[in-house]
Amino acid sequence: MNQWTREARYRPLSDIAPEVYQTMKEEVRNSPWRFSYHIQPPTGLLNDPNGFVYHDGTYHLFYQWFPLGPVHGLKYWYHMTSKDLVHWFDEGAALIPNDDADSHGAYSGSGFIKDDAVHIMYTGNKRDADWVRHPSQIVGHLRSDGRIDKHLPPAIPNVPAGYTEHFRDPKVFQEASGTWYCIIGAQCDDLTGCTVLYQSEDAETWTFLGELKTQYPDFGYMWECPDYFELDDKGILLFSPQGIEPDGDAYQNIFQSGYMIGEKLALPELTYQHHAFSELDFGFDFYAPQTTQAADGRRILVGWMGLPDISYPSDMYNWAHALTLPRELTLQEGRLKQLPIRELDLLRKRTIHAQSTEINQAMTIAQAETFEIELSNLALQTTQFEIHVRAADQEATVLTYDATTQRFTLDRSRSGAEVPAVDYGTTRTVQLEQPLHQLRLFVDRSSIEIFLNDGEAVASTRIFPKSTSQDITLIGDLTADISIYEL
Ligand code: FRU
Repeated sequence: MNQWTREARYRPLSDIAPEVYQTMKEEVRNSPWRFSYHIQPPTGLLNDPNGFVYHDGTYHLFYQWFPLGPVHGLKYWYHMTSKDLVHWFDEGAALIPNDDADSHGAYSGSGFIKDDAVHIMYTGNKRDADWVRHPSQIVGHLRSDGRIDKHLPPAIPNVPAGYTEHFRDPKVFQEASGTWYCIIGAQCDDLTGCTVLYQSEDAETWTFLGELKTQYPDFGYMWECPDYFELDDKGILLFSPQGIEPDGDAYQNIFQSGYMIGEKLALPELTYQHHAFSELDFGFDFYAPQTTQAADGRRILVGWMGLPDISYPSDMYNWAHALTLPRELTLQEGRLKQLPIRELDLLRKRTIHAQSTEINQAMTIAQAETFEIELSNLALQTTQFEIHVRAADQEATVLTYDATTQRFTLDRSRSGAEVPAVDYGTTRTVQLEQPLHQLRLFVDRSSIEIFLNDGEAVASTRIFPKSTSQDITLIGDLTADISIYEL
């Protein structure tokens, strides 16, 4: 990626002639591994989901976007809308980093509804001549043409004393009383990660409250993308800590994302009684998730199906990454369960297989490139079983369950073109609390999302197989109700 000099990374889209950009778009559209039903960038790099909000019959979901290549450069917000959370319309770039306060990127932030209009709050990333960051937090609102108007100067122009230049990603929420809060990811002067809160009566003028007091005063060097919401009278804090060392099956990726469940935040006192941090996803590619409340009250989460600082095989075609499918979050037995949202059924184009099936030793039950498969009422006669997907010749993504240990492993060492993150390993394992009885996979041209035991554990993973690798093979002795749908 040597052509990606600093100058090239901070080049705005407006520098490129429209016909040149059109050609770039065509080339990306015709390149391998483009998704069939996931949100992906038209060109360049996608990262965090931003501004996820429902208003007046429409879901708005934005993402961090660098248009001109598969690298982290000058970030825009790209805008998608949907009526059902699964069919998305492309609204184009909505937030353009062309003001002094966001001259080096319109960084992550959130959406909220005020005065019957979609508003956002995001981090303006500005660098000075010495390349030092000067983050500010900026409020804006969505115009009817799909673009965002910024309310400048920034609502929070500076970093408060006690924190470094790593201060970003405001998530706005409102109390029943009407008071607004925002929670921001930060690094303390002692180089530990944390979050801070601000309060406002109008979501324009913000007062610094201080740092949220958690039981993790020393847990990584930066907490990115915090999100706070309440479910069943509990207060749930999501964040993406950086700098956590691997520990058994946990924390295997370069950076992590997870949650804590506790009592509701005490505001403005900033105390939070909570349980331990748990990761949200045991796959290779998941980061910076954000939630919103659906029209019917469900809490919906979308993540970035990728990670910072890692290159991917699609880079050579000038695009990188996608968002995960939306998941519904519920609280069960003190843990977050994550289920694919029911609207995903709308993506089913054709039933490939739907019957109670007995497998003896091994069977290729179908072939498909983009599909959903569910195994329920799983009864195993052998202690171990495997599912191979996107398989052919030497290629396969291999999922293995061992009934004696209740461990489930995802192996992408033979999944196709290698993701150069092999330093972080090529398998991921989760220890299930319940014996495996149900499993659902969503497979796209270059990804797999795995949901085990009705949302007990979830993994999101990119794979880069040949398009002709389509076998779905089960190995072991078992019976299960198996449904496969082409998506
Ligand atoms: C997380 C993150 C955020 C930041 C954004 C910039 O992936 O680093 O903290 O706002 O990406 O694109």
